[in-house]
Amino acid sequence: RSPPQNPHDLSRHDIPDILKTIHAEVRERFGQHAGKVADYIPALAQASPDAFGMAVVTLDGDVHTVGEAHAPFSIQSISKVHTLTLALDKAGDDLWKRVGREPSGDPFNSLIQLEHENGIPRNPFINAGAIVVADVILSHYDDPEAALLAFLRERSGNPDIGRDDEIWESERKSGYRNVALANFIRSFDNIENDVQAVLDFYYFQCALKMNCIDLARSLQFLACRGKCPSSGEQVTSIERARRINAVMMTCGTYDAAGEFAFHVGLPAKSGVGGGIVAVVPHVMNLCVWSPGLDQKGNSLLGGYALHRFTRMTGLSVF
Ligand code: DON
Repeated sequence: RSPPQNPHDLSRHDIPDILKTIHAEVRERFGQHAGKVADYIPALAQASPDAFGMAVVTLDGDVHTVGEAHAPFSIQSISKVHTLTLALDKAGDDLWKRVGREPSGDPFNSLIQLEHENGIPRNPFINAGAIVVADVILSHYDDPEAALLAFLRERSGNPDIGRDDEIWESERKSGYRNVALANFIRSFDNIENDVQAVLDFYYFQCALKMNCIDLARSLQFLACRGKCPSSGEQVTSIERARRINAVMMTCGTYDAAGEFAFHVGLPAKSGVGGGIVAVVPHVMNLCVWSPGLDQKGNSLLGGYALHRFTRMTGLSVF
């Protein structure tokens, strides 16, 4: 199938048929090619590597799905996009004095750069950066958990989004790296609040459960110049939406961001629960979920599905 000349014209794509084709290709890879489920958070290890769901939500509000697109899963690091949006809303561009905008080229939970870089994490999407963003949220919101939940419920239209208690407990018990990161950053005075309170909020955001449709809808404002296409509400400024997309493109999949730009060509954010959200600016949002991960912590079949989608449609920012 060769992509049409003007891929942005959605009438040229048979999206249900494209999703069906991708689903069939993905199913052939179940088993030994499905990746490895994250087990460093014990409660995540229960997921099946052969689960797969995918949702496309266009700016007109059309929703197309295949597989288990309605199954809630642990959103993990995808929440780092939502918290960055909330933190920028309150702290403005001063946030960038406390966290950078460069890809790290190191694993998402690495400590190594912080020592040479004064406790300023490379970007808001590695764990270190998201912990600083969580601290900013604690400084600006009276009830940070309620604020994040309200944001996610409103943006996705799903009032039932909530925390998975088992995963939250599991992360609290086993988050040795995050404890180390937060304390190390605190030693450089780049955390203002109680370290345990910051970590508890960080674990809360990671332990939220959403499905592919909720997640694609929740970031529609990034495809629509900062505006929610259904309500017309300006969620963030045009410039900020562009910049969040830029950071997703360069840092959203950690030390695989170069590979992702090469194979998929869209701003995207992954989580170790196996979800990946991608943005096609001015056109649509995508979310895929498959819990088997590659060595960098990104969903293996999810990345494959996005690659196939952009190849078949020609939809890419390049
Ligand atoms: O803090 C952690 O390690 C996890 N709660 C989140 C990491 C994550 O999702 C990285 N993504 N690929």
